Amino acid sequence: MSQVQSFDWGGWSEQELRRIDLAMQEWLKPFEPQALFESMRHALLGGGKRLRPLLCLAAREAMREFDGHTPRLDLEQAALRAACALEMVHAYSLVHDDMPCMDNDVLRRGLPTVHVKFGESMALLCGDALQTLAFEVITPESEEVGEVIQARLCRILSRAAGLKGMCGGQAIDLSSVGLQLSQTQLELMHAKKTGALLRASVLMGAACSSLDNGQWQHCAQFLTTFAEKLGLAFQVIDDVLDVVSDAKTLGKTPGKDALNDKPNFVALMGLEGAKGYALGLYDEALDQLSQSGLKHTQALSALAQLVVHRKS
Ligand code: IPE
Ligand code: IPE
Ligand code: MG
Ligand code: MG
Ligand code: MG
Repeated sequence: MSQVQSFDWGGWSEQELRRIDLAMQEWLKPFEPQALFESMRHALLGGGKRLRPLLCLAAREAMREFDGHTPRLDLEQAALRAACALEMVHAYSLVHDDMPCMDNDVLRRGLPTVHVKFGESMALLCGDALQTLAFEVITPESEEVGEVIQARLCRILSRAAGLKGMCGGQAIDLSSVGLQLSQTQLELMHAKKTGALLRASVLMGAACSSLDNGQWQHCAQFLTTFAEKLGLAFQVIDDVLDVVSDAKTLGKTPGKDALNDKPNFVALMGLEGAKGYALGLYDEALDQLSQSGLKHTQALSALAQLVVHRKS
């Protein structure tokens, strides 16, 4: 706790949010056809908490102690690319998640959803193009990011986004409509649907380090468990907010889980039960950071706090 208090979270996050947004604008310059560009810009640059990029940069921050004496601008650059790639994959997943064939939502980040504004075909392409742009960004043709780091980043991101991660989780979500899932089944769904990309966010940031693979694996163990606890807490709170919040605060339509008959944590353990569960996961996540012995985990702790106390 003292670490969190002495850390200038406001200053750190403001600076990092600016870097993330400037970099994403740089990687998504206007192009033809204009409708595809506009839909991608709407999805990527139209708001959002930027939780995944911030987690990535916070994890990179935690690896700073291994840098040595010369500032590692190459690793900073790799982490910024990884951060933006994560937001691109996340934005793509939201565009597809909102489509009529999935959750059929009209409001996202306080704006009309991409299919409402640009049509369904464009929403499909917008998601596809955001996903592939993410992989372009982490594999620059210049030597700006070393090939070992590029490979690590691609390995983590592809597995988190695909059949064993987000897409797999979304498939469970869709096939679970109307079903009563056990806590174990619900946690597995959440771990894939949302947890996988949050875990990847931490691991991609941590991958931007000068450690060799063996040393890195050791550090990554604690960060992985931290991220898994946090990822689950994040989706439990998403389920809570769906019940207690309003469209203005949330930027999306509340009450959708009950309306679409989706299994969720509030239905499973009640509102207070779900909130308490998320707080317990938060404590367990922080415990992993202490056990890791890493010195610069303040940004990660602050983000964990934000995840459980957020209003949107
Ligand atoms: C919403 O994610 C979708 C889920 C994975 C539950 P966020 O709550 O991070 O959405 P934005 O990026 O802030 O809009
Ligand atoms: C979405 O989960 C998860 C992904 C986009 C991968 P939800 O369907 O619960 O997200 P919201 O509530 O629409 O943001
Ligand atoms: Mg959904
Ligand atoms: Mg949804
Ligand atoms: Mg939700």
